[in-house]
Amino acid sequence: MENKISVGLLGLGVVGSGVIKLIENHQDKLAHQLGCSVQVKSVLVRNLEKARDVEINGTVLTTNPDDVLNDPEIDIIIEVMGGIDETRKHILKAFSAKKHVVSANKDLVALHGPELQEAANQNKCDFYYEASVAGGIPILRGIVEGLSSDHIQQVMGIVNGTTNYILTQMDSEGVSYEDALKEAQELGFAEADPSSDVDGLDAARKMAILGRLAFSTSVDLEDVEVTGIRGIELEDLQYGDKLGYTMKLIGFANFDDHELEVNVQPTLLAKSHPLAAVKNEFNAVYVYGEAVGETMFYGPGAGSLPTATAIVSDLITVIKNLRLGVTGNQWIEPHFKKALKTAEKRHAQYYVRLFARDEAGVFSTISSLFHERDISFKRILQTPDKKREYAEIIFITHDTTLENFRNALENLHELDAVMEVKSYYKVEGDAVT
Ligand code: HSE
Repeated sequence: MENKISVGLLGLGVVGSGVIKLIENHQDKLAHQLGCSVQVKSVLVRNLEKARDVEINGTVLTTNPDDVLNDPEIDIIIEVMGGIDETRKHILKAFSAKKHVVSANKDLVALHGPELQEAANQNKCDFYYEASVAGGIPILRGIVEGLSSDHIQQVMGIVNGTTNYILTQMDSEGVSYEDALKEAQELGFAEADPSSDVDGLDAARKMAILGRLAFSTSVDLEDVEVTGIRGIELEDLQYGDKLGYTMKLIGFANFDDHELEVNVQPTLLAKSHPLAAVKNEFNAVYVYGEAVGETMFYGPGAGSLPTATAIVSDLITVIKNLRLGVTGNQWIEPHFKKALKTAEKRHAQYYVRLFARDEAGVFSTISSLFHERDISFKRILQTPDKKREYAEIIFITHDTTLENFRNALENLHELDAVMEVKSYYKVEGDAVT
C-alpha cells in the first residue's frame, strides 16, 4: 500500500477545521495504526479569502468541486459542508469516481442514506457517517459493531444538545422557555432560527438513522413522529419534578414483533432513568438489548473537535479497509421489511394537566371516562385555586395504548366540567418519590 493516503475535504467550517487539526496533531498515531501518513490534499470552500482558524499547510483550497472530486490522487472524500441537494450530487459523483466517503451530514443521511449507500455498494466504496448522530459519541459503531451479537429492542436518545440545554435551564433555574432559548442563543448553542432544534426535526433525523441501524429495517424520516419543545410551560416541569420526573426531549425507537415505532417528543422521564442525569448540551443514547440489557453512551453531541473525532475514526476505518482490501463490504441490506406499529400496539404512560370546575363529582366523572377505556391512574395531584374557582388537576396514567389514550383525551375535551386540557406528555419509567 502507498505510504501516504490523500484525502479531499468538502467544507471548511467549524467541523472541517477540527478535522484538519486532528489529522495534523495525530500524524504519529495515524502512522502507527495505519502504517502510512494521511494528508488533506485539497478542500472545497465557498470563499478563498475567508480568514480560517486553522493553519493550512500544503493543502490546496479551491472553489471548484471537481478539483477535489476528480483528483485521481484522492482516495477518500470527507464531507463536512452540510446541505442536501448539492451535497448529494457531490457524494454520488465521488462514488462514481470510486472514492470512499465519510460524511457528518445527518440531514442528508436521514433523507438519502439508502440511495447513497446503494451507490457506495455498486461502486465497491465505503460510506461511513458516525458523526451524523450525537457528534463525538461512537454510537453508530456501538450499535453496528459493539452490539452486533445482540437483538436490540429499544433505543432512547437525548440527541439534541440545544433542547437539552433549554430544558435543563428551565428545570434548574426556573426560567421560562423563552428566556432559556434566548440564553442558549447568546451562548451559541441555539441558532438565530432555532426551528430545526426546538421543533424536533434535528432529533428526528438522528432517530431515523439510529432506527435503521439498530433494527436492520428501513426507516424514512416521515416514519418518525415529531413534537418539539416550543412553548413548553415551566409548570409542567415543576409538577413533573414534584412527582419524581424530569422533562427531556426523547427520541424513542422500539422494535418488537418485527414492528417499528419511532418518535421524538417531550417526555417526563423518571429521575431514576439513566438518561435523566444527562444535563445541559450533552447527548446520550440508551440502548436496550435482549441479551446485554441496559447500556448507555454519553458525551458531546456537537463541537469542532468532538465531531472531528467521529469523522477521523471513520477515516481510519476506511484506510484499514483499504489495507485489507475489503472496502465496499460494510453494507448489509435491511433484514426486516418495514412495518409500523399501529396506535393499538403502542404502549406508554401519560401525564395530563387540566383545568376543571371545582365541584363535587368532577373528579369521579373524569376518572370514569378513563376507566371506560381501561386506563387507570397511577398518580394524582389537585390544586384548588380559590381566586379562579377552578381546580388544576394533574394525573399520570398507568401503561395504556396510544389508541385508548387518544380516545380518552378526545372525550375529556367534550366534558362540560373540563374547562381546558392544558397539556399532556408521554411518561417513561417509574418514579421513586
Ligand atoms: N444542533 C444540534 C444540537 C447539533 O443542538 O444538538 C448538531 O447536530
